[in-house]
Amino acid sequence: MIEKRLYIKTYGCQMNMYDSGRMADILKPLGYSLIETPEGADLVILNTCHIREKADEKVYSDLGRIRPYKDDKMVLAVAGCVAQAEGAEIMRRAPYVDLVFGPQTYHRLPEMIARAHRSQDKKSGPGRGILDVEFPLESKFDHLPQEHTGVGPSAFLAIQEGCDKFCTFCVVPYTRGAEYSRPVQAIYEEASRLVDCGVKEITLLGQNVNAYHGVLGANECGLGKLMEHLSSIKGLERLRYMTSHPRDMDEELMIAHRDVPQVMPFLHLPIQSGSNQILETMNRKHTREHYLKIIEKLRTYRPDIALSSDFIVGFPGETDQDFEDTLNLVSEIGYAQAYSFKYSPRLGTPGAVMDNQVPEDVKSDRLERLQDLLNVQQQTFNELSVGKTLPVLLDRKGKKEGQLLGKTPYLQSVYVESSPRLFGECVNVTIEKAFANSVTGTILTQESVLK
Ligand code: 5AD
Ligand code: SF4
Repeated sequence: MIEKRLYIKTYGCQMNMYDSGRMADILKPLGYSLIETPEGADLVILNTCHIREKADEKVYSDLGRIRPYKDDKMVLAVAGCVAQAEGAEIMRRAPYVDLVFGPQTYHRLPEMIARAHRSQDKKSGPGRGILDVEFPLESKFDHLPQEHTGVGPSAFLAIQEGCDKFCTFCVVPYTRGAEYSRPVQAIYEEASRLVDCGVKEITLLGQNVNAYHGVLGANECGLGKLMEHLSSIKGLERLRYMTSHPRDMDEELMIAHRDVPQVMPFLHLPIQSGSNQILETMNRKHTREHYLKIIEKLRTYRPDIALSSDFIVGFPGETDQDFEDTLNLVSEIGYAQAYSFKYSPRLGTPGAVMDNQVPEDVKSDRLERLQDLLNVQQQTFNELSVGKTLPVLLDRKGKKEGQLLGKTPYLQSVYVESSPRLFGECVNVTIEKAFANSVTGTILTQESVLK
């Protein structure tokens, strides 16, 4: 088999990272192995994100940067959510792109590449590109290979995809399509294969992961039950999941945080805004009070749970008071970490055509104030771990020689000095110093706490 070089650039969320990994898995049997730069690649895939304005602008500038490397041999592909949303526009603006395909059709990559080569051979010039942005009847998951290449100690596994909620700011229901849950058995098998490859921590992914619904035996199986089922896989030490919606936070899932030791004490539960008025215009279909009640209940099951959220500032109609309500919600909850964004109107979503769009300078000002508060909370959370000894899964190489990077149960990044042989192990670390985005500590025992 002829060796071929594959360069994939991934933008955006963890789901895209998962998809990129699966694309590499599909292409491996065809002789493709990953390289770090587009130069000299036989196939370049830009796996794009459409969630906010800046994310899709980057794609066009990256295409321009890759163009000089493109020779007759190179197949240049744009995948992901920008491809899904504006595939025809990409082909018009960048006619040198060979393939454009969405998140639901990448299982057809081998066939698309063969077609791209055939049309390159014909040298038919601009307009020869192949566009596949269908929502096919078959699920791509049924056509993905069983092998996983290049997985480390911590891996992603997509269990659910798409969204039926239609928040008025969001493109996901249009780019990823309707909500779909994979069968329990397929997930169990994929998780087992990952563990066989040395994976110790799995993050279950979905745009609405806690809307997961499958069948186990004769019973319905939600996310809580699914995680309990997966916890029987020997060698699987940690389970996480993201992203959840407050409306799908059922009691069974909360109880899993108490009763299933593998389920980590961390929850990313976006609220977006602390104002009921804005939540309503965002079509979130729940109130601030509902969210606070979930958190309160969850803390009764798992008092140490670390919380995270997404926030949007400057959604149409957001007043100073609405924004203050977001700030006081943040103060009331106390987040371990969170993401916050300026509202970015997305074409085709209801928010983009709403009256009362908020001026850019007001958005910037609010974002800064919110991020200042969230940064203080994150630093405080990290400081509270100083002096504690926590199990840390060493899952990445550190920046310096002799250093490894790991994660606490609360998803904090931990830098430790360590022998490389502990890579992939879970060790007890005494936390010594706290920073804004990480902590440092010393390994207590040079033995894995899991053995
Ligand atoms: N503008 C700004 N932020 C957005 N998000 C989604 N759509 C938009 C938008 N149009 C944010 C939300 C979501 C996260 C993944 O991205 O906070 O939870
Ligand atoms: Fe987008 Fe809302 Fe669906 Fe999340 S729940 S993917 S924010 S539409």
